[in-house]
Amino acid sequence: MTSLFENCSLGNLDFKNRIFMAPLTRSRADDETDKPADMAVKYYKQRASAGLIISEATQVSERGKGYIKTPGIYTEEQAEKWKEITDAVHEEGGKIFLQLWHVGRISHTSIQPDGKNPVSASAIQADTKTFTQEGYQQVSMPEALSVDGIKQTIADFKKGAELAKKAGFDGVEIHGANGYLIDQFLRDGTNKREDQYGGSIENRARFILEIADAVKEIWPANRIGVRLSPTGSFNDMSDSNPLEIFSYVVEELNKRSLGYMHIVERFPGMDVGNDDLNIINALIKKWDGFYIANGDYDVMKAKDAIKSGHADAVAFGRPFISNPDLPERLEKGAEFNEPDEDTFYGGGAEGYIDYPFLSDNKKTKAA
Ligand code: PHB
Repeated sequence: MTSLFENCSLGNLDFKNRIFMAPLTRSRADDETDKPADMAVKYYKQRASAGLIISEATQVSERGKGYIKTPGIYTEEQAEKWKEITDAVHEEGGKIFLQLWHVGRISHTSIQPDGKNPVSASAIQADTKTFTQEGYQQVSMPEALSVDGIKQTIADFKKGAELAKKAGFDGVEIHGANGYLIDQFLRDGTNKREDQYGGSIENRARFILEIADAVKEIWPANRIGVRLSPTGSFNDMSDSNPLEIFSYVVEELNKRSLGYMHIVERFPGMDVGNDDLNIINALIKKWDGFYIANGDYDVMKAKDAIKSGHADAVAFGRPFISNPDLPERLEKGAEFNEPDEDTFYGGGAEGYIDYPFLSDNKKTKAA
């Protein structure tokens, strides 16, 4: 039986354990340039004992930004800063993928270039809020992307993939989850288009598949992951038949032999019913490749998920915020540091790079 602490691999890329770090928005990037913060180098380096780190969601264009202080991957300067991060992680023997992101309608005119409206599959405003310079505000009304706009956005994902390669990442994850742009195209609650990108399941899936194909021109297929949240309602999402659309997506991704599928089985604080779990299990069964499970996993559940063959790896989010050495703590059955929710989003070093390691505690006790 396989254990959480056993190594695993994607092609020729080896991971030292199956405890992966989930993408986590920490809102500390430079808001002028969208460069990751200097402190992010230490933050990621501290967490390099994860089997794989998946970076925080990173916008592929200015239009793709929806919250203040999230980093980008659309300029050389951003890639240079990311390179310091990947070098630091590699020095510690870690592996790191970049998550390619476009928020779509989850944005605000004050965050968009020239105060424009955000873009989406269709002009349907989300009933949710975002962090702006003026605080937590209702997201703005989006405009539907034109076909030219869609082509440009696909090119932006490709450019982001290219810059991620330059920045020394081990691979990229396409963020198709949690109600952001790709998800807005996939699900029929947000996609009311009548062209080749809306209506049928083939049409709604066209955008993610064209992105996957564009990214495949830059990266070998096994260095590309896709994150999906088929049953999630976060960011005001819905679909009339998630099993149908996501089955098609999974089958098409199989044909492309992508590295991994990563599913948000449940969003923190949100309920999941049996119907949802059945949908997710059916999708995992359809998937031929490496599977990363995510969503409120504790140690017991994570161990079971690996033992039972439900997942090849488990991505932990919040536990990695307050426990930089999470794999060691899990293996030793050690206590976790208390997370400080007030510093999850935004702020400085506090709650970011100052959580103690187990070895620090020992030192303190010995002293
Ligand atoms: C967030 O910033 O709250 C956020 C970002 C990306 C996600 C989910 C949440 O996938």
